[in-house]
This record gives sequence, C-alpha cells and structure tokens, in this order.
Amino acid sequence: MQPTKSTESTKLALSPLTPAYDSILELTPYQTGKPVEELSREYGVFDVVKLASNENPIGCSPQVTLAITEQLGRLARYPDGNGHYLKQALSDFTDINIECITLGNGSNDLLDILARAFVSADDVVVYSQYCFIVYPMVTRMQGATGVEVPAHRFGHNLDAMRQAVDDNPNTKMVFIANPNNPTGTQLQHKELHKFVASIPSSVLVVLDEAYIEYSPESNNRALLDEFNNVVIVRTFSKAYGLAGLRIGYALSSTAVAELLNRIRQPFNVSRVGLAGAVAALGDQDFIEKTRNTNQEQMHWLEKQFDALGLAFIKSHANFIIVEIQVEMEDITAISIYQALLEQGVIVRPLVGYGLPNWLRITVGIAEDNLRLIDTLRSILTND
Ligand SMILES: Cc1ncc(COP(=O)(O)O)c(C=O)c1O
Repeated sequence: MQPTKSTESTKLALSPLTPAYDSILELTPYQTGKPVEELSREYGVFDVVKLASNENPIGCSPQVTLAITEQLGRLARYPDGNGHYLKQALSDFTDINIECITLGNGSNDLLDILARAFVSADDVVVYSQYCFIVYPMVTRMQGATGVEVPAHRFGHNLDAMRQAVDDNPNTKMVFIANPNNPTGTQLQHKELHKFVASIPSSVLVVLDEAYIEYSPESNNRALLDEFNNVVIVRTFSKAYGLAGLRIGYALSSTAVAELLNRIRQPFNVSRVGLAGAVAALGDQDFIEKTRNTNQEQMHWLEKQFDALGLAFIKSHANFIIVEIQVEMEDITAISIYQALLEQGVIVRPLVGYGLPNWLRITVGIAEDNLRLIDTLRSILTND
C-alpha cells in the first residue's frame, strides 16, 4: 500500500513524542519517598531515619533471608513463570482456588495490569479524593476518564461513589483502598458489602488491601465468594517487609484472573521474590510481632502529637497523617518536611494528594519515632 502524503497535522500526529492518549501528557512521574542514599548524597547526612514509604521498620522474617539465600546459586535460571508454590501457599492462606490468584511485581504491577486489561479510553474509573495516587495514574494511562468523589472525613464516601457510578453509565472500574493510603481511614465490612451489592455487576470493584495485616478486621476476602466483580489486591511490601523484592497478588474470580494472566509479563515475579514470599507467608508470628509493635508505637506517636498540639487522623495502617497548622510565620508542612530532611528524618509531604498542610509519617521503631518527635519539637519551638 502507498503511504498517503502527510499534511502538517498528520506529521505532528506521527511524531514519536505523541503519546497514545493526550491524558498521558497530564501525568507526572510517581513521586517515591526520598531514598536514604539520595538524602545522604544531597545533604551529607548519614544517620538517616526513613519514615516516608510505609515500609516495615523491623525488616522481614529471618525465614525470608534463609529462603532467598538458597536461591542465590540458581539465578541463571528463569523463575517459575506461573509461581506455582507461591500460589499454592496463597491459596491455602486465603482459602481460595489457585486459579483465582494472579501474582505481580508488587501490587502496583497488578493495579497497572488491571487497568490495562479492563479499562479503555471510553471508560470511566471512579475513585475517592485522597486516594492512592496510582489509581488516577493508571486511569489516565489508559486514556480513560477518572471521576474523583469528594471524601467524607478524609475517607471514602461510598454513597457518593455509588452515585458517581450511577451518573456515569460508562463506569468500568472502582478503586477503593482499605485501609486507605494516605489517610489511614478504614471502611466497615458491612458498608463495603452494601456498596458492592449496589454496583452493576459489569463494574469491577478493586479493593486494595495493601495494609490489611495492620487491620485484619478490614479483610474483605468474603466478598469474593459472593461477587464475581470484586478483585482484592495485596502486597508483601508493607507488613511482610519485602518492599525491595517487589511481590504482590490479586484474588479474583477465575475469569478475571485468566484475563490478567494473559497480559502480565511472563516472568513478572523473580525467583528470589517467589521464594521470599512463600517463606514470609509461612511466618505469621512475624506479622503478629509487626502488628503489635506498630500498634504500640502508633499510640505513642498519637500522644506525642497531642502534646505538640498537632492534629492527626486516626489511622488503621502503619502510617499517620499530621496537620501542620502552626501560628508561626514561614512554618508550613513543606518547610517542616525540609527541616526534617536536613536533620536526617524523611517523611512524606502530601501536596500531590491535595493535602498541602499535612505530612504522612510512617510508624517506625521506638528509636526512630523518638528521633522524629525530638527533631519535630525542636523545629516547632525553634530550639
Ligand atoms: C494503597 C497502596 N496500594 C498499593 C501500593 C503499592 O505497593 P507495592 O507495589 O510495593 O506492592 C501501595 C504502596 O505504597 C499502597 O499504599
């Protein structure tokens, strides 16, 4: 076939810099918590406390270290692309059929795969104000329309979200994180059940349970027995302490899993990741210890914020958001973030989440939290 003569506009359209969808031009790269190495490089501070990415400050189970070490002599071989042993372990752990499980390179991979598998440019995706920033990102990546529903007391307003679905017949997907990041709010099983029951079965409800181990009562696994349009996404990055390994999983109907498996990369979880995750899942005592430490330290932090006169939102995860409303000139959440950075404490500013006066702080171990509070106090009192 002869190529047609290009006009000025088709030339532009053919530019290698023309993205698949205009909405990609609106995206900004995901901003991660500042890595420790970067802070050391930029500020020459070496004794760094990172409370910015909701990682587990205790580390991971010693069983994981053992399991990973065993894999080190086998790195020349591809991993099991089907992740059989990890799926089997997850199947036993969650009491779900192995065919209902999809593995991901972190749960972020699964959020991306879900959007790519189900959302097209004509579709609408519904999520809440103050939701995990990846939901609007993957929506825009697909050229779809995102509908952000105003939050209720920093959490999901499910009635308003249902209304948004009703108002937008093209709705294909709803994202809900429970507990929510960055606000730490939690939804009751009863209200979620009512929500899912009221949504057309053609709409996929993606429940992101990245922080479920900190709040076991938020577990909505039971919804999968009743609704084919529910997908639960979980991760080994948070309580399991394996953020650096990149492993997540999705639980869904077999039909959904079958589609997800068609478009995931063939070896999206590494050999080391698979072995590490099996070992991690097998050490639930470690998860219990993590949960208890988190709870104890969360209470301590809440008391310290009260004493400093800083408002916070009750959190059901391993982080907490704190409001910086100080009656002093030049003190803003960003200036405090910056001052903490200069003293080797990394927290997370929330400007990108529409919460410019707030900071998100990951609950650390006692020593980290003490350092945070002492540094914060000295900044606030100009000591
Ligand atoms: C709510 C939520 N979902 C998903 C993720 C992605 O985590 P990962 O890709 O490490 O599993 C995060 C990470 O911060 C999160 O907070």
